[in-house]
Amino acid sequence: MKSILIANPKGGCGKTTLAVNLASYYARRGKKVGLVDLDEQGSATAWLGLRPDKHPAIQGWHAARGGRSSFNGSDVIIMDGPARITSAKLEKALGNAHVILVPVLPSLFDMDAVARFLEVVGALPAVKRGKKRVGLVANRVRSNTISSQKLKVALKKMPPKVVGNLSDSQIYVRAGARGLGIFDVAKNQSQHLRDEWRSLIRFVNKDS
Ligand SMILES: Nc1ncnc2c1ncn2[C@@H]1O[C@H](COP(=O)(O)OP(=O)(O)OP(=O)(O)O)[C@@H](O)[C@H]1O
Ligand SMILES: [Mg+2]
Repeated sequence: MKSILIANPKGGCGKTTLAVNLASYYARRGKKVGLVDLDEQGSATAWLGLRPDKHPAIQGWHAARGGRSSFNGSDVIIMDGPARITSAKLEKALGNAHVILVPVLPSLFDMDAVARFLEVVGALPAVKRGKKRVGLVANRVRSNTISSQKLKVALKKMPPKVVGNLSDSQIYVRAGARGLGIFDVAKNQSQHLRDEWRSLIRFVNKDS
């Protein structure tokens, strides 16, 4: 079993988008997926509520609301982090995760917030020992915009490496509104976006 935490205290950077699309990817690959919603807002839980039965099933648990998980024998656990840095559940999730993905938006304001969070993550003994892997994911990238270029330069200076660059696309928004990820959408509409997930998925799948 592999567990992946998606976290960044900055609101709206794409944590839930990353979490639900990763969940849809692994579910499509026939994996047993558990989606843990650590956010009181419950966006990932709401997404799951919209998911049509004909698409591969994903088990959900709104952990921020308490209770216990009913996950049995999951292959992959994906945890959608809350938009704040201190929470007992987030700390526990940081402890449990094999891989931590940190989505960032192409704005320097976002970089300041993420830098502070990365200090906390970088101080975890398991991260220092290389037992836990941390990857940055540039999200909502619009090629050739000044902010995206600036993000690329700023990210190069960061210690965790950039493991993915995801475009800004309404396909994420439209799929999400139907309880789907881009991997559930017809390939002829989503192939260009799916290709951008390759390096990210390779990073997640590496043996820890
Ligand atoms: N790559 C993308 N292309 C287009 N829209 C996106 C993309 N990623 C995220 N969004 C949109 O940006 C908004 C915020 O994304 P999301 O909810 O995933 O962020 P979040 O980090 O989970 O937010 P919160 O901190 O509130 O939990 C949503 O409306 C989502 O549809
Ligand atoms: Mg969210």
